[in-house]
Amino acid sequence: MIVVAGGTGNVGREIVRQLVDVGEAVTALTRDPAKARVPAGATAVAADLTEPSTLGPALTGASAVFLLSGYSPDIFAEAEKAGVRRVVLLSGGSAETGDRGNAVARYMIETEDALRVSGLAWTMVRPRMFMTNAFQWTAQIKAGVVRAPWADVPSAVIDPADIAAVAVKALVSAEHEGREYPVTGPEALRPGDRVRILGQALGRDLRYEAQPDDEARAEMLQQMPAEYVDAFFGFYSDGILDEATVYPTVTEVTGRPPRTFADWAVANVGRFQ
Ligand SMILES: NC(=O)c1ccc[n+]([C@@H]2O[C@H](COP(=O)([O-])OP(=O)(O)OC[C@H]3O[C@@H](n4cnc5c(N)ncnc54)[C@H](OP(=O)(O)O)[C@@H]3O)[C@@H](O)[C@H]2O)c1
Repeated sequence: MIVVAGGTGNVGREIVRQLVDVGEAVTALTRDPAKARVPAGATAVAADLTEPSTLGPALTGASAVFLLSGYSPDIFAEAEKAGVRRVVLLSGGSAETGDRGNAVARYMIETEDALRVSGLAWTMVRPRMFMTNAFQWTAQIKAGVVRAPWADVPSAVIDPADIAAVAVKALVSAEHEGREYPVTGPEALRPGDRVRILGQALGRDLRYEAQPDDEARAEMLQQMPAEYVDAFFGFYSDGILDEATVYPTVTEVTGRPPRTFADWAVANVGRFQ
């Protein structure tokens, strides 16, 4: 049996679906199983990652677990106690910066460090910017103009389903233990490129406007703590995070290339209409 934390999230729900498709027994962890709508063949189990001591029963009998970064390292001790052999961790490119002064990089680095010193076998999955982040623009896309910051910063955006495909390979086989995988899409795109591609998928003229830093900062402060806002400015204004480099990981691990943003946009037009 394989346990998937964040089994309702962008990456986790794809992992659950893909594991069911290959015939694995799957437990999807969620805070609210009644709302989880997991695929037939998977079981939703209530668990709160902020309370590691409650995870034991859900983990018992699992051969491998998919976990998210930013929670207590006690989760790894619970997994070991429950007899789990292998953990696949959703980390991020920022773990590679080594910058513990950056709040986002820090929680990824600290979670990776705790997993490395545990007795568990591990695989670090380090995706760059998710294609699904474009859903943040839905209201602006409906209105025809997207204002977003960091106009000149390209990111090799990745479909969460491709991150999941890499994670699934690492969950079901010992072959990927001890590996740190940078996971990217097939091309680096600036925000304006992504808006243009979404417009082509929708058959509409969309305009991109570079959002000034002060306006972006004020908007972000309404959505997240200041240390995370500073972290994103560190990534994209100060340039500590390289998301432009394209890696062959998806092709090498899964045997097929990652999806393009254009294909993802066509598959998701319904979400922007
Ligand atoms: N977006 C990006 O560009 C990007 C890039 C690199 C790395 N990442 C990493 O990816 C993570 C997000 O992944 P995602 O997009 O797949 O997630 P998501 O769609 O934001 O969903 C979050 C998941 O975490 C679960 N969750 C949240 N708090 C929980 C708790 N206390 N106990 C149990 N489960 C909890 C939620 O489950 P329920 O609500 O059902 O309980 C949900 O399944 C980020 O936090 C970041 O670490 C993101």
